[in-house]
Amino acid sequence: MAQRSKAKTIGVLTSGGDCPGLNAAIRGVAKAAISTYGMEVFGFLDGFTGLVENRFIRLADHELSGLLTLGGTILGTSRHKPQRMPGPDGGTRDMTGAAVENYRRLNLDCLVCIGGGGTAKVAMHLKKSGLNVLTLPKTIDNDVAETDVTFGFDSAMSIATEALDRLHTTASSHQRIILVDIMGHNTGWLALGASLSGGADVCLIPEVPYRLDRVIEAVARRREKGRRFSLVAVAEGARPADDKGGLVPDEVLDATGVTSTHLAAVLEGALGMESRVTTLGHVQRGGIPSPTDRLLATQLGVKAASLIAEGSHGIMVAIKGEELVPIPLEQVAGKKRTVPLDHPWIQTARLIGLSLGD
Ligand code: F6P
Repeated sequence: MAQRSKAKTIGVLTSGGDCPGLNAAIRGVAKAAISTYGMEVFGFLDGFTGLVENRFIRLADHELSGLLTLGGTILGTSRHKPQRMPGPDGGTRDMTGAAVENYRRLNLDCLVCIGGGGTAKVAMHLKKSGLNVLTLPKTIDNDVAETDVTFGFDSAMSIATEALDRLHTTASSHQRIILVDIMGHNTGWLALGASLSGGADVCLIPEVPYRLDRVIEAVARRREKGRRFSLVAVAEGARPADDKGGLVPDEVLDATGVTSTHLAAVLEGALGMESRVTTLGHVQRGGIPSPTDRLLATQLGVKAASLIAEGSHGIMVAIKGEELVPIPLEQVAGKKRTVPLDHPWIQTARLIGLSLGD
């Protein structure tokens, strides 16, 4: 039922790294807010920067059309935080006051911040500064606490899986080892999910420190069985437990950690197999959202609007099983959801012979 008696005004922004589904979420919040609850909706531009600089657009029917399938974010995004905005002298300055003032200037009842872990922390800061905030969990990393999944993850996993599918045929044709760099600086959800669905042979993730000798063994074992190529998925944040045998020079370990390029050289040297590195990079964040992400982003957005209509704030809307549930921001900000070592995906990897390099 439409609740037009006490119309609210809300702001929406997208913050942090972009991902597929952001526009679907903006559309979900705004459509429900406007057409069901009679709210007025403003979109701040370029993340929290727009809030600090008072740059916004009014979101109405026209702006919301054609958004469901569109990648990126029509509002723009940034990684800037009001409490540490870049200053003219190259340093940073606290612009929280300006953010609060601009929120008040528009008479907002709530600010919807669509973002990942970093965004939840900023939202918490704004909450402590007196603003009504609500967050929606997005990121291809899938590392936001207290939600089963974030939108953006499914699309990115499809992209990474397709990349592995394609790399399979070329690796096999040339009898090479191909190392595939997959995003995920803190967590291995994306690398592990794609490795399982794309049939990688080794998957290195931050949660499971790897050993170079074990990675070499895994590829050597395949070769002994007549498999003349291997795909090694390397999550951005994967780290060696140690470097048994001094395969990587200490200065490299100290300066950069072991990158896929070093790893490729080590594997090539140890096994005499040609190795190549493919970095998927921002391809994983671009393009149209998958149907699963469109659905999730829409559901989260619509739930956000209905919670705001009820007067709720200071929360993140999470998905747990089939349910969309409000979670107090205190339980989300500053937390990370890493892959538990007893997670079914880890067990599946071990049972299917996908080496985690440990
Ligand atoms: O947080 C999402 C993410 O894509 C990470 O996986 C990656 O480490 C980071 O963003 C890259 O950030 P940027 O686009 O700012 O280089």
